[in-house]
Amino acid sequence: MSAPIAIPSRSSVAPAIVSISPSSSVDRRLQQHSLSLVSASVRQPKTLHPVENEDLRLLLLENISQDAVAAFRAQGFQVDHSTKAMSEDELVEKISQYHAIGIRSKTKITERVLKAASKLLVIGCFCIGTNQVDLLTAAKAGIPVFNSPFSNSRSVAELVISEIIALARQYFERSFELRNGLWNKQSKGCWEIRGKTLGIVGYGHIGSQLSVLAEAFGMRVLFYDVVNLMPLGSARQVETLSTLLSQSDFVTLHVPELPETLDMISATELSQMKKGAYLINNARGKVVDIPALVSALKSGHLSGAAIDVFPAEPGANGAPFDDALNPWSSELRSLKNVILTPHIGGSTEEAQSMIGEEVSGALTRYLNQGSTMGAVNFPEVDLRAITAEQGDHVRVCHVHVNQPGVLRQVNEVLSPYNVEKQYSDSKGDIAYLMADIADVSSRDINRLREQINATNANILTRLLA
Ligand SMILES: NC(=O)c1ccc[n+]([C@@H]2O[C@H](COP(=O)([O-])OP(=O)(O)OC[C@H]3O[C@@H](n4cnc5c(N)ncnc54)[C@H](O)[C@@H]3O)[C@@H](O)[C@H]2O)c1
Repeated sequence: MSAPIAIPSRSSVAPAIVSISPSSSVDRRLQQHSLSLVSASVRQPKTLHPVENEDLRLLLLENISQDAVAAFRAQGFQVDHSTKAMSEDELVEKISQYHAIGIRSKTKITERVLKAASKLLVIGCFCIGTNQVDLLTAAKAGIPVFNSPFSNSRSVAELVISEIIALARQYFERSFELRNGLWNKQSKGCWEIRGKTLGIVGYGHIGSQLSVLAEAFGMRVLFYDVVNLMPLGSARQVETLSTLLSQSDFVTLHVPELPETLDMISATELSQMKKGAYLINNARGKVVDIPALVSALKSGHLSGAAIDVFPAEPGANGAPFDDALNPWSSELRSLKNVILTPHIGGSTEEAQSMIGEEVSGALTRYLNQGSTMGAVNFPEVDLRAITAEQGDHVRVCHVHVNQPGVLRQVNEVLSPYNVEKQYSDSKGDIAYLMADIADVSSRDINRLREQINATNANILTRLLA
């Protein structure tokens, strides 16, 4: 007998049932996969089918890693891959064919694009930020958005270590001179980093990783954070930013961009730094008041700086980094003791591959299991997997408006069945309910779905079987 699969629909779209033939190659592959899992352990998760997998289409833009493409194809999804971003007009024309889209930072998912995205179930940002997506409109359309905020922490921490040594040894300046034909061997103003103090502002994913690396180089580590945190190794948390600034030979910033962190390092803070100290910013451009930094470098109060992030950054490679972009660009560029890099802190092959793995995993878990754990704009809900032995179980994934009375209505629909597990959460105007129902016949599935779809707060209901 073929397994009935409910196609998800938003409240305005007519419900439909599609049968997957067990003889289809995807289904056979999934059955074989389930069988091999069953033989390996007693209680293995069952592979759920959100829609007929051959019809589930994913659009991956901006050269998302081939590992992610392979992972999606292995799930039986149809993948269209492009190395380029798409304009709003192109997206409006094409998006209605797709159930999922993967982008990086250049493709903008606007309200207009979302209005045209009649089948879209989920958005994956294969990067750190999600500013390029209209998160609120996506949530209201029942579309969770996933990203990968911490996959490049190690890459940033390693870059900072390299910058500390480069600043201490001035080798970027020596290299520049030698490339211009000048031999200039010197030790004045060049230091080992062993025994020096590193002050870390923001002891989160990157700051704490860096702390461990710096201690391995023999540095003493102080950190300042608004939260009280367990120090790693022999690092020590200090009470105030000024204490950290006045005791550190190198100060490195790893805080998010928030109203409180704008110009967090300005003339006053720079004057509190030790004479001859160095400042490193790989966090966000607006955290440092750059004209004040330029003055501190020109006066000789600071010995050097490394800057990877800027208040305004060019949109594409090859674009100029000039005074039209930031009024102080040419002055900053003229300083010898400054390392300037084009926001490369997290840009490594390893970070890209981890981002691909994490975001493709999140999209697959949402499409196949309904889990929204890690979504940035959605309530985070997950349920224990349905096991392979639970053949007649159905998972209800119900996105609805967060208003009173919804659970009563939905539970009325579910009341003839044995609800094995159920979990619901809300975020702002959006709520999400997951429920696993036992003993559901293939005929009941369609009716169940139609009834939940007809409840007045319904945004999107999917049944996974
Ligand atoms: N250069 C790059 O390519 C690159 C790559 C990744 C991340 N980043 C940036 O690095 C920064 C840190 O990233 P993360 O992953 O470590 O973030 P995180 O959220 O893990 O850690 C940030 C830490 O800063 C602390 N903090 C917040 N406000 C503070 C304040 N006012 N004073 C002191 N501490 C404060 C938080 O409590 C937290 O411990 C972010 O701005 C991120 O955008 C840059």
